[in-house]
Amino acid sequence: MTDKTSEKLKSLLPDNMSDPLNDSKGHAELMKHKRLTENAFPHVRMRRLRQNSAIRDMVKENQVQVSDLIYPIFVEEDIDTPVAIKSMPGVVRETEKTLVNKMKEVQDLGIPSVMLFGVSHNKDHDGSDSMNPNGLLARMVSTAKQAAPDVVISVDLCFCEYTDHGHCGPINGHGDVDNDKTVENIAMQAVIAAEAGADIVAPSGMMDGQVSGIRHALDVTGFTHVPIMAYAAKFASVFYGPFRDAAGCSLGHVKNVPAHRKSYQLDPANARAAIRDALMDEQEGADMLMVKPGMPYLDILAKLREKTELPLAIYQISGEYAMIRLAAEAGALDYQSAMMESLLSFKRAGADMILTYSACDVANWLK
Ligand code: PBG
Ligand code: ZN
Repeated sequence: MTDKTSEKLKSLLPDNMSDPLNDSKGHAELMKHKRLTENAFPHVRMRRLRQNSAIRDMVKENQVQVSDLIYPIFVEEDIDTPVAIKSMPGVVRETEKTLVNKMKEVQDLGIPSVMLFGVSHNKDHDGSDSMNPNGLLARMVSTAKQAAPDVVISVDLCFCEYTDHGHCGPINGHGDVDNDKTVENIAMQAVIAAEAGADIVAPSGMMDGQVSGIRHALDVTGFTHVPIMAYAAKFASVFYGPFRDAAGCSLGHVKNVPAHRKSYQLDPANARAAIRDALMDEQEGADMLMVKPGMPYLDILAKLREKTELPLAIYQISGEYAMIRLAAEAGALDYQSAMMESLLSFKRAGADMILTYSACDVANWLK
């Protein structure tokens, strides 16, 4: 301590107090003396606005509402009863029949939209069942639409649930997904979905040019009113693991075909590439952009929020859901509080819409 500092400290002490620097009671005694801290606080105290729940509610910046939610639903053909998905407690593959009641439940809960995924039993190299007007994709869309006319039917456009090799499009001679052929096919799939009654199409294959391909195909077939929600920044994430069980589209069981999607989905290391890719979807005519996964990619959502005026969605994916549910089952977290906090993080980062497997639970909690 410099002489100057020591002088200053001494000047703050009452006359009857011994010199703390040379006293056995030392600094502790000095700290008890109020004059040392009385000017230490600014006039601003953040805790004024946190003192009770009424005031906290008044200054709340974000909240999760039922109208934010999109509920993903898996529909499997040729099964008699719903099948539970082990790694995702509370999530099932619906049958085409039980889809009807599920849709009614969603409508009654006031959830505005669902995202449908087909689990195919008719897989081939191209995923052609999804381009068939009588195939699973078309059937589940029209079943859902008829069961719950007030619910916005969004449908995942991709081929991985319908190809025998599990990739998001046909494989070319180099063992990679054929980009341009996939775009041609996905444009067809979009028209099939729209004809079946889809209100929103959501291409998730991360093929270059897929948004403009779909927009063109929808427009020339009279579906100018059907919006595209682009899976715009979709990363090659390990957190999709439980979904691949759920949708029956695991990779790695076919020879000479990669066991990953790194040649089309984004590298988790890349933020700038993600923004470029997403903004390209906007240029191609996407009406809404999605970031996926959710919590590990909040930075991407927040950055994108600054770069576009389009509505933004975020997908809290299977692995995120599994982490929260399984941690809750192990007694490490409270499911409801942990889920609501994670959804709030999406709103804070700029999401307008949230896809979550907890949508029905959330709607019930918010009642
Ligand atoms: C495939 C697709 C995936 C998800 C939705 N559509 C994952 C993948 O790339 O394998 C993930 C959903 C989830 O994990 O909840 N196009
Ligand atoms: Zn896919």
